[in-house]
Amino acid sequence: MYPPLRGFLRRCHEQFAADDSGAVANYIPELTRANPAHFGVSLATIDGHVYEVGDSSTPFTIQSISKAFVFALALETLGHERVESVIGVEPSGEAFNSIRLTGDNKPFNPMVNAGAIACSGLIHQHEGDGAFDLIHRTLGRFAGRELDVDEAVFASERATGDRNRAIAWLLRNYSVLGDDVDAVLDVYFRQCAVLVTARDLAVMAATLANCGRNPLTGEQIISSYVVARTLSVMTSSGMYDYAGEWIYRVGIPAKSGVGGGIIAALPAQLGLGTFSPRLDSHGNSVRGLKVCEALSAHFGLHVL
Ligand code: DON
Repeated sequence: MYPPLRGFLRRCHEQFAADDSGAVANYIPELTRANPAHFGVSLATIDGHVYEVGDSSTPFTIQSISKAFVFALALETLGHERVESVIGVEPSGEAFNSIRLTGDNKPFNPMVNAGAIACSGLIHQHEGDGAFDLIHRTLGRFAGRELDVDEAVFASERATGDRNRAIAWLLRNYSVLGDDVDAVLDVYFRQCAVLVTARDLAVMAATLANCGRNPLTGEQIISSYVVARTLSVMTSSGMYDYAGEWIYRVGIPAKSGVGGGIIAALPAQLGLGTFSPRLDSHGNSVRGLKVCEALSAHFGLHVL
């Protein structure tokens, strides 16, 4: 499979680079500075081979892709009972920034903003001022290198993130957040501003595919129990209100971010990371979706 894989990625890159549909995210002002032409794809296998095409080493902010890894960290650090006591695992069928909660006043799942803010809150409650540092180090362990933070994107989202602020105060009202709301939001906004490349995302996804062991560094980062739960919510909710279409058409656990990244993790096989900042109306990268669809169809990777 490996040599044809390189050629396949090149062909995908060439073909989908021609698609100029979608638009760069603009509700976080700093994200409008992204270059819409950027397009990078990387694929890492669980035996440690990494393939890259296009702008695979261009840094961009991880945004919502952090949600999968911070959920994993919360499960690993606090245990599933504590996490499940405040966050559900049902797809919401709504946009990522929906303020709606379940009938028992919990976020629907950890992949939407409400659930992710709740996860950051759990880690903040546990770690106090060290919460972001722990998240930052953990994301770096998944990527196999130390990651930077885009302070301008952090400041821009912090200055304009009133919708997330409203969600966080609602969560505090229902005691999902037990902590200082502003401090939790700072953790959440900063984790979204961590800088990654498509190559980093491929390695991070391959770590999930490899039962929590980074295939490049050999480090076991989370347990296989936590990996299974994380991949489950990625499968049911990772692509928001496109999640049903996604599992039907692509059939691989995945997570997207408004910075233009997508990860897809195929258990026991590979991790894919794509970067192209043009987004569709769900907030998913247009070209990234196409690469995932093509990969799944071409190699018959649909898990079902
Ligand atoms: O909270 C937000 O709105 C952003 N920091 C992250 C949203 C996001 O990436 C949604 N993904 N497609």
